[in-house]
Amino acid sequence: MTTPTPEDRFSFGLWTFGWQAQDQFGSATRPAVDTVEAVHRLRELGVWGMTLHDDDLFPFGSDETERRRAVDRLRGALDDTGLVIPMITTNLFSHPVFKDGGFTSNDRAVRRFALRKVLRNIDLAAELGAQTFVMWGGREGSEYDAAKDVQAALARYREAIDLLCEYVIDQGYDLRFALEPKPNEPRGDILLPTVGHALGFIATLEHPELVGVNPETGHEQMAGLNFTHGIAQALDAGKLFHIDLNGQRGVKFDQDLVFGHGDLQNAFSLVDLLEFGSPEGGAVYDGPRHFDYKPSRTEDATGVWESVRANMRMYLLLKERAAAFRADPEVQAALAEAKVAQLRETTLDDGEGYRGLLQDRTAFEEFDADAYFGDRGFGFVRLQQLALEHLMGAR
Ligand code: GCO
Ligand code: MN
Ligand code: MN
Ligand code: MN
Repeated sequence: MTTPTPEDRFSFGLWTFGWQAQDQFGSATRPAVDTVEAVHRLRELGVWGMTLHDDDLFPFGSDETERRRAVDRLRGALDDTGLVIPMITTNLFSHPVFKDGGFTSNDRAVRRFALRKVLRNIDLAAELGAQTFVMWGGREGSEYDAAKDVQAALARYREAIDLLCEYVIDQGYDLRFALEPKPNEPRGDILLPTVGHALGFIATLEHPELVGVNPETGHEQMAGLNFTHGIAQALDAGKLFHIDLNGQRGVKFDQDLVFGHGDLQNAFSLVDLLEFGSPEGGAVYDGPRHFDYKPSRTEDATGVWESVRANMRMYLLLKERAAAFRADPEVQAALAEAKVAQLRETTLDDGEGYRGLLQDRTAFEEFDADAYFGDRGFGFVRLQQLALEHLMGAR
């Protein structure tokens, strides 16, 4: 059960295992990874899909011939292995021209160039059969409040996404967009910093049905937020189109650790939610289990592929633990004690309305708030202890 197979629908960004580990303070520690070799390697490890930015496959500024050669080479490897490309994304952050962003750069010519780069890449997404197009606006933001008109920037963001949706509809592509929030890094403050901000923005679009979110574990945690809560809200809104799984330890720079190597408790509740939904029902996630992590700078090629395996193994182990947690009769008793299921009951009776509520004297006039709980509590700590014991393999 902890050996990955394509049925698990695990996918990895080409830029993840392909990262050569250059950072702000030092140069690369690893050689480049060949895309075709990587596709074969992924398949051997039981991976289902690979995702990519345009610039991961062919360098920025490649002419049509170079571009075609790279795409055809990839296509060949996909045909040989059965690996799929479920998601594509555009790099609007590496080239210096995007120093103030792409869709929201103060410079209009840059915004027009960014849109053309994305339109071209949408065609590639359709050609490779991707169904999700991720947009991470890493450079859309600012360091200085005086230098960015945020309302105008959001209007330009909306203009860009509305145009891209119109293009996808007109071309008849089977493609949906997923916005990826991040609070900061590389910009001091990035626009649409959290899942909640992105959901609010999506509601203002011309075609909200085509746009969802691609939340990343570490990005929400960099903002001190509970990732599982963010995912639950995205599911509630029907907007969890894609996910970036990784590990982060607290409010600091984007660590991109292996999934589960950061906040393990939160990873446990996340997998439990994605796989099994809420204890009493609720939506589950049916999209790709996508990892967006970085093999640490200390790792050689062996370490890189070990870390690919580690992501999937962590996910499958957590899935196994979550299933055991749910099946445990003691857990079921503790869940009942904690009234977790009662939250699924509507607060009002069928057809009751505020009139009925106002007439119910037991709800207020006769409700003794001081005496209600007596000396009884909810038993949440006991439930959490059971969860952690399952997580630790102690039960
Ligand atoms: C980051 C982001 C990126 C995006 C990728 C896809 O913090 O660097 O997570 O890795 O996910 O660009 O759009
Ligand atoms: Mn990250
Ligand atoms: Mn990231
Ligand atoms: Mn990401």
